[in-house]
Amino acid sequence: MRRTIDWDDDAVVIVDQCALPAAHRTLRLRTVDELVAAIQRLAVRGAPALGAAGALGVALAVREHGDDTEAVRADAARLAGARPTAVNLRWGVERALAALGGGAESVLAQARSMLTEDERTNHTASRHAADLVLRRCPRRPLRLLTHCNTGRLAAVGWGTALGTVWHLHATGQVEYVLAGETRPLLQGTRLTAWELAEAGVPYRLLPDSAAASAIARGLVDCVLVGADRVAANGDVANKIGTYGLALAAARHEIPFVVVAPSSTVDKELPGGGSIAVEERAAEEVTHFAGQPVAPEGAAVFNPAFDVTPVELITAVVTEHGVFTEGR
Ligand code: MRU
Repeated sequence: MRRTIDWDDDAVVIVDQCALPAAHRTLRLRTVDELVAAIQRLAVRGAPALGAAGALGVALAVREHGDDTEAVRADAARLAGARPTAVNLRWGVERALAALGGGAESVLAQARSMLTEDERTNHTASRHAADLVLRRCPRRPLRLLTHCNTGRLAAVGWGTALGTVWHLHATGQVEYVLAGETRPLLQGTRLTAWELAEAGVPYRLLPDSAAASAIARGLVDCVLVGADRVAANGDVANKIGTYGLALAAARHEIPFVVVAPSSTVDKELPGGGSIAVEERAAEEVTHFAGQPVAPEGAAVFNPAFDVTPVELITAVVTEHGVFTEGR
């Protein structure tokens, strides 16, 4: 299946991102409980994919509860709260709920139309970002650095920051991509490397701790990342480690470009200071591949995201073009 998330028969079908890269398998989720659990263990993840999951989840809730709109709305609230930072999840849930008055078929039609819309939107946003990168970075071919996973696995079928790489690679403009491993859950190592290899883009994996040094040594022309939530002023919440990359990029005067669909912009939020940052389980840090690697009882700080202030960001680019420009 080319889509990361889709509707088939009466189930939500996802590519199981916990299994990659060892196995490429799909999961059929038939209940809201199953979908919420899949979201929380990151079997489906990435802001645009979470938007699609939220919408399709409401379609599942309507199948489960029929005319009992109170039960549907309770499930919708559970879905929207399954992960707190990516605003797309709540957005997807709310858009599907808006079709509730038209019945089950109307909700499903709305959710399915959002899948096609996501592919088109991210294709356009990343096209705009590719144009910006070509304008801002004189060196050819380009040496890019990215973080976490922002490809088709993070969306429905295209991607945001990696979508930009797809556009640039199609015209032979990419020398290589440095992909940050993205501790502790290794979205870069497991997912981005897999997507880059599949697309035939030259890449090297990079320990997160080596990124600032790679930038300082002049190995990077541009940093490209996605976003989980963009505040109205252009502050960006994204995978933990993004803020450090932005600091290093600013210090060494290379562009730092954020690519996201406009559904990631939370217009109700004036600045990034009040974005809820998900804290995840200590075991993600104290254990590696299921084995303990820290002393028993070690205390852990494990935020899944950080917030980068707008002044460190060259541009936030959506399907409408440049949303905010900073340095
Ligand atoms: O915890 P994750 O893997 O869901 O975090 C994903 C990210 O931080 C991505 O960079 C972001 O959602 C943009 S995906 C196009």
